[in-house]
Amino acid sequence: MTSPPRSKRDFLRLTDLDRDGLLELLERAAEWKLLGAGGPRPLERMAIGLVFEKASTRTRVSFEVAALQLGGHSTFLSPRDTQLGRGEPIRDTARVLARYLDALVVRTFEHEKLEEIARHARVPVVNALTDASHPCQLLADLLTVAERFGADALQRGGLEVAWVGDGNNMANSWLEACALLGFGLRLACPPGYDPDPALLARAGGRARLVRSPAEAVAGAQVVNTDVWASMGQEAEAAERQRAFAGYIVDERLLAGARADAIVLHCLPAHRGEEISDGVIEGPRSAVFDQAENRLHVQKALLELLLSPR
Ligand code: CP
Ligand code: NVA
Repeated sequence: MTSPPRSKRDFLRLTDLDRDGLLELLERAAEWKLLGAGGPRPLERMAIGLVFEKASTRTRVSFEVAALQLGGHSTFLSPRDTQLGRGEPIRDTARVLARYLDALVVRTFEHEKLEEIARHARVPVVNALTDASHPCQLLADLLTVAERFGADALQRGGLEVAWVGDGNNMANSWLEACALLGFGLRLACPPGYDPDPALLARAGGRARLVRSPAEAVAGAQVVNTDVWASMGQEAEAAERQRAFAGYIVDERLLAGARADAIVLHCLPAHRGEEISDGVIEGPRSAVFDQAENRLHVQKALLELLLSPR
């Protein structure tokens, strides 16, 4: 690896950025998007490790391509083909990998495990999804909102966002975005599936938990949903199907949103469960721009953590 950063900076939660830092990162991501595959190569000779204990399509590929386009290299590590799967303590793995690599991008189950890795690795650690949060996805979601409603829409505080479904890692990260940017956020979750109460409290009066999807969506400009059973919850799938009946973003529900509302879904989607086929393919769907934006925001993020301008 190249010389280690004097004081490393992790990205474990969205709130590891402050409001200005978040807005600057989104602005830089828009610049990277315009540059395409060209532009500067701030990660020249750097190597990024992708330590993934859960499946991934978007996150893995967008980080691999981001590292490549920034002039760096990436190496993918899963428990199936590393000593992690044979019980090597995570703190040893973190310390060793940090001797070779310039950053670790980690997807795992317990958020505490990510924090343990960050404590023991002497290089920046990035949250690529835990059971508690998915901050890289939020960066892409916010860039998509800025593209559709104008860059200053996020700063004005007038934006109204709806969340329909599970109070999961994505809902938690939306609460953190709300705490930073102060937009209105109404979350409709069935009883027993609420987001993290500490994050709800931290978001203050701008975030409100309701039970009715129609109430959450009424007048919203951004309508979000996600799968009913996240990775690791497969055994609860049947029970969750019963609990989430009616929490589907379909054309009927969307009729209550603002006329120019967009629909976001981090993907992968279960069409016919949390979102209808018609909505995901319809004119309000921004899900494929949202997926593309993972690449651009992560280029801005890697640049910020490894080669700040
Ligand atoms: N949205 C998202 O993180 O997708 P993957 O699970 O495919 O990485
Ligand atoms: N909530 C989902 C998001 C997948 C990108 C999960 O954790 O499986």
